[in-house]
Amino acid sequence: MQKEKHLELNRQWWKEGIVYQIYPRSFQDTSGNGIGDLRGIIKRLDYIKSLGVDIIWLNPVYESPNDDNGYDISDYRSIMKEFGTMADFDELLAGMKERGLRLVMDLVVNHSSDEHRWFQESRKSRANPYRDYYHWWPAEKGIPPKRWSFFDVESNAWKYDQQTDAYYLHCFSVKQPDLKWENPKLREEIYDLMRFWFDKGVDGFRMDVISFISKDTDFPKLPEKYNGEFIPFYANGPKLHDYLLEMNQKVLSQYDVMTVGEAPGVHIDEALQFVNEDRNELNMFFHFDLMSLDRETGETFMMQKELWKLTEFKKIHSDWDGVFANKGWGSMYLNNHDFPRSVSRWGNDSKTHWYNSATMLQTFLLTMRGTPYFYYGEEIGMTNIKFETLSDYRDINTINRAETIRQQGGDLEAFIENEKDASRDNARTPMQWDSSENAGFSVENPWISVNGNCREGINVAAQEADTHSVLNYFRKMVQLRKSHLTLIYGEYQLLLPENEQVYAYTRSLEKECYLILLSFSEDRATVHFDEMSGTPAKLLISNDDANTRVDNGTFEVRPYQAMVYKLF
Ligand code: GLC
Repeated sequence: MQKEKHLELNRQWWKEGIVYQIYPRSFQDTSGNGIGDLRGIIKRLDYIKSLGVDIIWLNPVYESPNDDNGYDISDYRSIMKEFGTMADFDELLAGMKERGLRLVMDLVVNHSSDEHRWFQESRKSRANPYRDYYHWWPAEKGIPPKRWSFFDVESNAWKYDQQTDAYYLHCFSVKQPDLKWENPKLREEIYDLMRFWFDKGVDGFRMDVISFISKDTDFPKLPEKYNGEFIPFYANGPKLHDYLLEMNQKVLSQYDVMTVGEAPGVHIDEALQFVNEDRNELNMFFHFDLMSLDRETGETFMMQKELWKLTEFKKIHSDWDGVFANKGWGSMYLNNHDFPRSVSRWGNDSKTHWYNSATMLQTFLLTMRGTPYFYYGEEIGMTNIKFETLSDYRDINTINRAETIRQQGGDLEAFIENEKDASRDNARTPMQWDSSENAGFSVENPWISVNGNCREGINVAAQEADTHSVLNYFRKMVQLRKSHLTLIYGEYQLLLPENEQVYAYTRSLEKECYLILLSFSEDRATVHFDEMSGTPAKLLISNDDANTRVDNGTFEVRPYQAMVYKLF
């Protein structure tokens, strides 16, 4: 199993760093309005530092009417009032720098808010200088060709605007008009605002739906080859790579920053076009193959009936690792603000298996090649809230899809069941700091309900006090990754591809080799490797006390157990 191979490491801080994503609305409220704020993040910087992570990715904190919780920006250079002021932001950034933490902001430039000054101007008249900052379809040309929209009750991305007798394009909500990247003036505006944040000292951007920015402005019918699937069509705009290259040349290459694009619709075969370093576009992107594994085909938010299979999970990760084996770099995530909590989705959040599941999934992210992204609360094993009624939801996505179903006379009960597993709000409940009424998040009623299991040990205070907590396992596992370059850069090799219970792989670099065993099963499992028979191996970490190696190359693996061995 041991391998000797010299890899060209091409070391970079953003490859070695561990990212901690914060949804500011839900992290820590200090102003007492039930909404998280920047001062709340400042208050918790020592905690974040204590995790061992290196980079914070902040979901949007810019001025916004909050139709889509900050993903509808009305001013790219100011801070959302509910979150604080620019002075708070500067203090946050300074506090991070002092602690050696880097900051990645969210760049949302496929669309703006309809309340952005550009759009307010654009809709005034057809001759307005900002007209061409957005996509307009004059009504005299007839009804525009079908485009699909997330968050639109009719999934219609064209909205008629009486003032100029024209339709504007919005691939997300009606309050999120798409920006027209085809206009060079608009692109310069975007490059300028990126410089504004970089000049402040920001270390990078996570680029929201960056794969959608280029459009064929003739708006042809969906070509046959897309087979009705509009997301890959949106991700295949004719000028996408020209724009990314230009953005790199004009802005990114001038700073020491990292970029990670959100790339729905991008096929694995196209991956290197974005992140091959020779092309100078982006450093990394988030693919959606894992996020689609338990979903209906082409339906980002509908659970499929069948359970997902571990063999498929392995294949996705092995295939993607292969793509970046020699060029580019991957990004590893199991959840974020758009998808349910990882322990509930990929593990098992029942009382019996929660601890092992949460820590096993942490072990997975921290032993794979590619930058690991953790989402606030993942370090303490936060779970899905599974709301019982629609009125608990705050997300436009759930609310408007429910409205569509209501209008069509569909099955709302089934939809509510679906949302218990699929909704974005599952991942947006307040951070669980302690076991008090609002979990230490706020003294007021939070904007969205707190998960009651903050009183059952899923909170920071309880886990700080317990050396065997999910939180303290996370810290140990983070240190293990950071002290073993092989776990970051080493080659990945899948073992036992057909096994439906255990995910086994090695990571190796020059003379070093590690074996990782992860159970995704609620039953015990036994795995055997002929090559390991008689090979000395040292167990570096496990989330379960049992040392389960049997000398002839056989391992007994407990439910959701994780083990990392060093092989000699
Ligand atoms: C991205 C964001 C999501 C947002 C959407 C529109 O997918 O992650 O939260 O709703 O873009 O901006």
